[in-house]
Amino acid sequence: MSLPPDVHVSIAPGAQLGENVSVGPFAVIGDRVRVGAGTRIGAGAVIGDHARIGADARIGAGAMIGADTELGPGCVVEEGAVLGKRPRLRAGSRAAAGAALDPLVIGAEVTVCCGAVVYAGARICAGAIIGDQAQVRERAVIGERSVVGRGSAVDFDSRVGARVLIQTGVYITHAVLVEDDVFIGPGVVTTNDDTMGRHLGGEPLRGPTFRRACRIGGGAVLVPGIEIGEEAFVAAGAVVTRDVGPRDVVMGVPARIVRRVPDADLHEHWS
Ligand SMILES: CC(C)(COP(=O)(O)OP(=O)(O)OC[C@H]1O[C@@H](n2cnc3c(N)ncnc32)[C@H](O)[C@@H]1OP(=O)(O)O)[C@@H](O)C(=O)NCCC(=O)NCCS
Repeated sequence: MSLPPDVHVSIAPGAQLGENVSVGPFAVIGDRVRVGAGTRIGAGAVIGDHARIGADARIGAGAMIGADTELGPGCVVEEGAVLGKRPRLRAGSRAAAGAALDPLVIGAEVTVCCGAVVYAGARICAGAIIGDQAQVRERAVIGERSVVGRGSAVDFDSRVGARVLIQTGVYITHAVLVEDDVFIGPGVVTTNDDTMGRHLGGEPLRGPTFRRACRIGGGAVLVPGIEIGEEAFVAAGAVVTRDVGPRDVVMGVPARIVRRVPDADLHEHWS
C-alpha cells in the first residue's frame, strides 16, 4: 500500500491484508479483518471487525461492510453499498425470529451494486447480482447467478432459487419461495397477509410460491398463499387470486386462464 504521508487510513493492528491489497484514503479496516490478495478497497470504505474478504475483490468508495461479514473471492461491492446491516424493527415485529443473526455470507463473484443494502443473516450465492438500491433482508437467500433488480426488495426469510431474474421495483414479501429459473417482471407485488395486520400474533403469514421457470408479467399482484405452477405465465397487470396450474397462461383482474404455454416456449428451449 502506498499513500502520500498526509492521507489517512485506519487499519487495526490485528487486521491481515494479503499481497497487493490497495486501500484508498480514509478507509477504515477493523480488528481481525482478513483481506485476500489483490483486493482493492476504495476511498472511505469501512470494513467492520472480523469481516473476511476474499482475494481479488473490489470494494467501492464509501461502501460499508459490517462486522463478521464473509465476502467471497472476486466480488464487486459498488460505491455506497451496505453489507451486514442489522435490522431495526418495530416492537413486536415477527421479523425478530428469536435467534441471533448469523453473519452475512456472500459467495464468489457476487456483485452488489451502488446503494444496495444486504442484511446480516442473509446468504447470497455465487455469481448473483444485487442491483442498485435493492434490499435483501435478514435470513433471505438468493441463489446462484440470480439477479435482484434495481430498487427491488426481498423480505426476511424468503428464498430465491438459482438463475432467477427479479426485475426492477419488485416486492418479494416475507415467506415467499421462488424456485429456479423464475422470471419476475418489473413492479410485481407479492403479499402475505389478507387481514392487513388484524390477526392474532404468531399466526403464520403465507407468501406466494413460484414454481420452477414460471414467468410473471410487469405489475402483476399476487395475493397471499397462492402458488404459480411450473412454466406458468401470468400476464402483465394481472391480479392473481387463485393458484395457477403448471403451464397455464392467466390474464386479467381477477386472473383467468386464457391458454396453455406452448412447448416451444418452455424454459428448456431458452436456457
Ligand atoms: C399476455 C400478453 C403476452 C399478450 O398476450 P396476447 O395473447 O398476445 O394478447 P393480444 O394482444 O392478442 O390480446 C388478446 C386480448 O387480450 C387482451 N389482453 C392482452 N394482454 C392483456 C393483459 N396483460 N391483461 C388483460 N388483457 C390483456 C387484449 O386487450 C385482447 O382483448 P380483446 O380480444 O378483447 O381485444 C401481454 O399482455 C403480456 O402480459 N406480456 C408480458 C409483458 C411483460 O410483463 N414482460 C415483463 C418484462 S418487460
